[in-house]
Amino acid sequence: MLYFMLLLYIRVTTLKSKVLFVTLQINNEKTRKMNNKKVVVAGATGSLGGKIVKELLALGSDVTAMVRATSNRSKLEKMGVKNFVVGDMMDKASLKEALSPKHGFDAIVASAAGYTKHSKGDNPETDTVGYRNLIDATKEAGIPRFVLISILESDKAVKVPHFHNKYLTEKYLQEKQQPYIALRPGAFFDWSDGFMTKRIKKGVVPMFFTGADYGTIYTNDLARYVAAAAVSVPDSELNSYIDVGWATPVNGKTLAQAFTKVLGKPVKAKAVIPNFLFKPLSLFAPLNHNLKDMVEMVKWVNTGEYISRNTQRQKQFFGDLPTIEEAVRRYAKDKKLID
Ligand SMILES: NC(=O)c1ccc[n+]([C@@H]2O[C@H](COP(=O)([O-])OP(=O)(O)OC[C@H]3O[C@@H](n4cnc5c(N)ncnc54)[C@H](OP(=O)(O)O)[C@@H]3O)[C@@H](O)[C@H]2O)c1
Repeated sequence: MLYFMLLLYIRVTTLKSKVLFVTLQINNEKTRKMNNKKVVVAGATGSLGGKIVKELLALGSDVTAMVRATSNRSKLEKMGVKNFVVGDMMDKASLKEALSPKHGFDAIVASAAGYTKHSKGDNPETDTVGYRNLIDATKEAGIPRFVLISILESDKAVKVPHFHNKYLTEKYLQEKQQPYIALRPGAFFDWSDGFMTKRIKKGVVPMFFTGADYGTIYTNDLARYVAAAAVSVPDSELNSYIDVGWATPVNGKTLAQAFTKVLGKPVKAKAVIPNFLFKPLSLFAPLNHNLKDMVEMVKWVNTGEYISRNTQRQKQFFGDLPTIEEAVRRYAKDKKLID
């Protein structure tokens, strides 16, 4: 009797583990299928691009990095990226090959930029001609989703070249009928990482914009939103833009208050370009494209227009908006300013 009970127990247990094993296999398969979108990232070697790749890998996407022949792939390889295609946005033939339908990409994320001068010789032509080339090649390859890193209120910032170019790119996507989602972030909060962290340690938040409240976003959050826009935001949202930022616009006072609270020591805000310098600097602006771009950007942001008009869509697709204090706390933790 005891022998039969033991045999029965062994059989039931074996059956249970078999059922559990099959269920786990089905669940894993489901998760994999949910996130196995093939995504190609242009600008993957850039600071935001790298973070986007990381987020996509975490979602289980099949990531391909589009790099130039000269790009340094080592960081991406260390992150586990195995697929690379070589494409230069100023070289149409290379894009045709890089985005060819043979790869079967479900989405392209465009995080490249020329005006940021990531590599020697880069220039803003990439942000106009280069982006048009990329869109043409995407359309020709039949890639069903183009995720653009645009900018808040880009349609209104006509005088700021690198803001206006984003708007022109959105327009070109519409004109070519290339399905897209444009994320329109505010200023990158961690705009100059090393410099900013050093200053904060000394009790100063360096401020680029001091004339009005403005929208901002921590790039770690933006990268997460971009990855979601590539793989999970529904098709019904294609051909639209989503404003991206914190729950409230910021200024020197609110940022200094948040850092003071988070770090537990007094922190004050200080302009990177003092007011007395800005006027003489503006006089030289017509002589230099980068200086003109920067001066016009500061003037535009100081109008107070550079804020999210619709925070609902961000909440709907990416969850609750970060608050100033919560985002500053995360930033401080990431930068090891606090434990
Ligand atoms: N809202 C804001 O405050 C703010 C601030 C900064 C940036 N942004 C936006 O965020 C995005 C990413 O900027 P980022 O700071 O991460 O840029 P970044 O670090 O300067 O990187 C630029 C990337 O673009 C690639 N690239 C440049 N020219 C190219 C070309 N002709 N063909 C193919 N790839 C090319 C570079 O590749 P290589 O490795 O070969 O050089 C690099 O991967 C851009 O859309 C930018 O406009 C917004």
